[in-house]
Formats: sequence, C-alpha cells, structure tokens
Amino acid sequence: MHVPTSIILAVAVAAAPALAALSDCQKSIVQQLTNTYENSQLNFAFDYCENIKDGRGYTVGIVGFTTATRDAFDVVNTYTKSSNYTGEFDPYYDRLKQLNQTGDSSTSGLNGFCDAWYTASSNPAFRAVQVAKADTLYYVPSQGYAEQLNLNLPVSRGQLYDAAIQHGTDPDPDSLPSMISRVPKPSDMDELTWISNFMKERTRTLCNTANKATQKAVIWDSGRGTFLARLPAERLDCRVQPLRVSLFAFCW
Ligand SMILES: *[C@@H]1O[C@H](CO)[C@@H](O)[C@H](O)[C@H]1NC(C)=O
Ligand SMILES: *[C@@H]1O[C@H](CO)[C@@H](O)[C@H](O)[C@H]1NC(C)=O
Repeated sequence: MHVPTSIILAVAVAAAPALAALSDCQKSIVQQLTNTYENSQLNFAFDYCENIKDGRGYTVGIVGFTTATRDAFDVVNTYTKSSNYTGEFDPYYDRLKQLNQTGDSSTSGLNGFCDAWYTASSNPAFRAVQVAKADTLYYVPSQGYAEQLNLNLPVSRGQLYDAAIQHGTDPDPDSLPSMISRVPKPSDMDELTWISNFMKERTRTLCNTANKATQKAVIWDSGRGTFLARLPAERLDCRVQPLRVSLFAFCW
C-alpha cells in the first residue's frame, strides 16, 4: 500500500436482492476500491514496486505482494516456471528464495529488482500470474471466511477481501482470521451489526498493530478499516450511481 489520493468511483447502488457470492461485476467493484487504497488508481498496478519501509521488504504488484511475506516470491517463482518467462528475475531468484525461507525484510542483494518487476509487468503472462495469485492467496480464502461466517451481503464479502489483502491470512494478531476471532459471531446478530463491529475491530487493529514495523505504514491508512462502510447496506451492483470514497486516517 502507499499514499492514496481521493478518487471518485462509479459504483452502482441498486435494489437487487442479496446474493451469497459476489458476482463478477461486484468483485470488480471491490477490486477497484482495493486498488484505490493500494495504489491510488482504479486499475491493477501491475508494475508497482517500492520499499515502503514497513518491515516487509519490497511491496510489489497489484495487491502489494511483499518479499518478506512469501507472496512476492510465490508470484516470481510461478512466473519463472512458465513457458512465457523472459528471464528478468534470474539475478534475483536465489536471493528471493532465501528471503522466502527466512521471511526477512532485508532488501540487500535486490538492487535492480524493481526494474526487473517493471519490465516483467509488460509481459501478459506475468500480469496473469499476479491476477491468479491475488485470487488464490486472497480472494478465495477471504470468501471462504465469508462462507464459514455465513455472510450474505456483498459489502461484508468485499470487506473481507480488502482485509485479507491488507492484513493477510496468517495466524498473527493483525491478520484477518485474528480480527474475525476478536468480534462476536455474526450468527448472534444482524449482518450489518456484525460488519460494523468488524470494521471497528479492523480500525482498532490498524491503529495499534501488534507488528510495530508495519504501524507507520498503516496508521495513515486507518480509514481503510471502514472499507465500504458508506455503501448503502447490502447493495453493491453495477447500475451506476457515483460513490465518493474517502481515504483518510482515524488514529490521530
Ligand atoms: C517458500 O517458503 C515457504 C514457507 O517456508 C515454503 O513452504 C515454500 O516451500 C517456499 N517456496 C520455495 C519455492 O522454496
Ligand atoms: C504464453 O505463450 C503462448 C505461446 O507460446 C501463448 O499461446 C499464451 O497465450 C501465452 N500466455 C500468456 C498468459 O501470455
């Protein structure tokens, strides 16, 4: 994630009945919102690469994969094994593999890595790997939590996807599953009450992360904790009504 600007997104708000899974259109709206938080743009930022000094090494690509959390290596590794790989990551492969093993935030030995990422991003095969990994590592697990919790509203499902991307799905205290475990179960209440409780917990977590190395990077972004809060209840559809997304911090 890096510093966002305010962006007006055309989102449709319509009186459609709630559906269990997000439609392709709803998923794409949610992804545009997440992209706005991640990279200040509606489209996927395939070529993004920066050391944002959040204790996770380089942050790269469409959902902020990082070299210290294994997902950046997962993307690179899959791409290097594809028949369309064109060699960009050869100088970095061994070092990335080592960092994948240690989970280290070091960027030493990675001079030029961002140039390689940028170059690779012009290859459709590399972009396809990024999209596929965002799905398998974040979208699918986030919707799995939604199923377990029996969440039906698109706003809840979208919120869990964005939270999976920002917080990850590991067992650490700042992660999506940990936040879910800290709020009362949705079965005991109206789903909108649950999502409101969850967003409060997410904001609380962002304002006081257990991993202090990530604190500076997320604190300005704490308004993201209420991701989708302004969308009227269960409605998230493609019949358009513009929605202004406010990106601001809550912690100070
Ligand atoms: C990356 O690290 C994970 C966690 O230690 C490990 O399971 C995986 O096999 C590693 N990947 C490769 C290709 O070495
Ligand atoms: C990879 O290359 C093959 C041809 O070698 C092509 O048919 C395929 O569409 C390419 N895949 C991507 C994702 O660009």
